[in-house]
Parts: sequence; C-alpha cells; structure tokens
Amino acid sequence: VSIRDSLSFAQKILSSANISEAVIEAELIWMHVLNVSRHDLYLDNFPNVTDLNVKRVHEILSERLTGKPLAYVLGLWKAYDVDLIISPDVLIPRPESEILIERGIEICRSGVFGKSPVVVDVGTGCGSIAINLIRNVPNIQLFATDNSKRALEIAQQNFKRFGLYERITSLYGDLLEPIFILPDLVIANLPYIPSRNIDWLQEEVRWEPRKALDGGNDGLAYFRKIAVQSKSKLNNCRGVFLLEMDPPQIEDVVSMFRAEHPKVKFDVIRDLRGLDRVLEIRIGM
Ligand SMILES: C[S@@+](CC[C@H](N)C(=O)[O-])C[C@H]1O[C@@H](n2cnc3c(N)ncnc32)[C@H](O)[C@@H]1O
Repeated sequence: VSIRDSLSFAQKILSSANISEAVIEAELIWMHVLNVSRHDLYLDNFPNVTDLNVKRVHEILSERLTGKPLAYVLGLWKAYDVDLIISPDVLIPRPESEILIERGIEICRSGVFGKSPVVVDVGTGCGSIAINLIRNVPNIQLFATDNSKRALEIAQQNFKRFGLYERITSLYGDLLEPIFILPDLVIANLPYIPSRNIDWLQEEVRWEPRKALDGGNDGLAYFRKIAVQSKSKLNNCRGVFLLEMDPPQIEDVVSMFRAEHPKVKFDVIRDLRGLDRVLEIRIGM
C-alpha cells in the first residue's frame, strides 16, 4: 500500500466518525507510527509501510473513535517547539498558550530583570511553558508549580526527557504559595472556564482534567487568588505577570490587580484569531 492510500484510508475512517480535523489527524497518526516529519511523509522519505505499521494505525484509529482526543491516544503532543508526554492527567497544550511562551522569552531576553531572571510557570501541567521557555532562555531560574500531583509527575517526566530535571524546580502547591524566592516574571495559563459551562464544552474537552479547566463560579477564582498572592510574593513589589484568559475576563482581572498595587500597567496580547488572550501586568515598573 502507498502512503497516500494509507493516509486517505485513515482520513475516511476519521471523517465518517465526524472528526473535524480528519486530514490533520490522519497525518499525525501516520507521522507518529512511522516516526517521520510531515515533510518526509509527503516525500515518501521513509522505509516501506509494514503490516505492523498498518496494525498500529488501526489500533490508534479504533481508540480515537471512542472519542478520546488524539493527544491522549498517541501519548505525545507537540507544544511550541517540542513533543511532550501527555496523559489524561494533564491539559492538552493549546496553540493560544504559545503567546505566553513567546512573550515570556522576549521579556527574559530584554534584560529588564538582569542576566538571570526568576521565572515561575504556575499550573505547569505537562510542563510545556517551562520547557519551551528554558530551552530558549537557558540562563533563567525556573520554578514550575501545580496542585495536581499527577500533573507534576508528567511534567517531571518531560523535564527528564529534555535533560532539564535539575534545571527546573517543580513544586506542589496552590499557585504561588510554594514559591519562596521572589519572582520577576510569573507566567500562568490557569483554569478560567466558569464551572457551569464545563458540561457544555465539546465532548473531547470533557476528557481533560476538570481541575485544569474549571475556574470556579465565574471562571475568575484563580485570578482573584493570584492577584492577592502577587502582593506578598513579588521581588520589591516589582515584576511582570503574563496571564492567559478569555477576552471578557480581562477587565475584571485588571481591577483585581489594581486593587492590590498602587503602580501597575497593563497590555493585552491577541491570539491568532484576533481575540484578546493574554493580559500582561507590569507591577512597580
Ligand atoms: C489550563 S491548565 C494549563 C497547563 C499548562 N500550563 C498549559 O498551558 O498547557 C491549568 C493547570 O493549572 C493547574 N492548577 C489548577 N489549580 C491550581 C492551583 N490552585 N495551583 C496550582 N496549579 C493549579 C492544573 O492542575 C493544570 O495543570
């Protein structure tokens, strides 16, 4: 069988189950099984497809057809620049969160916090923000927190996978609570979906840990908490917060930080769809 036929077979199976990204998923499945890039897949740049490969693809397809997201079926998922171990204990990294990584890299490289800024990735999940950040700015002192022990275990596996286990301090606890060194930059993709909306989300999102999605009654519970923590945790009351959220939440989060700090500035960064997605909060600077 040619790879073209194999791809179109997988795609048909996925489409017939109403999976919207059938073409992309068929590619990802074959790339995973053959361990090749998309480029090599289309150039036929790999050894022949074996019966074993076909059998593996069938197994993946049948697991996928149960509704389980492809990231959990494959157990590996691309986040920004790297493939990370993923399990149903962690959120599947989203493209929107790459804004946090890119802006975080820019801030660390700008030198505003000197040569070795202290950075915290709050609610690290699989560790995607922390890993991509330190690979691009190796001089930072990096902490990653989560209040899910099982998520932290996955993050630690990923830190080891990239030889970063000694370089990233992972801490279990509530947001910034376990941090005892004063941070310069805090990056967080916290749960921000109002509890009542969780059951209305796409079926696939419901496979993800509720703890990674549920932001309490109004979706703002963790922003409220981290705004309060920001008062006692910052280095000389000076620092930057990069927080991902839904566009209508921005105004409320601005007020929460205004209430805690006399001198605070805000910027909003849009995502690829043009929606206000990340709030940058500069405190005391
Ligand atoms: C939306 S996920 C983000 C995961 C990862 N940073 C990413 O961007 O893919 C939120 C993460 O925050 C963690 N979390 C939820 N509440 C927390 C809390 N109070 N303290 C620390 N982490 C928390 C969840 O376990 C989850 O891993």
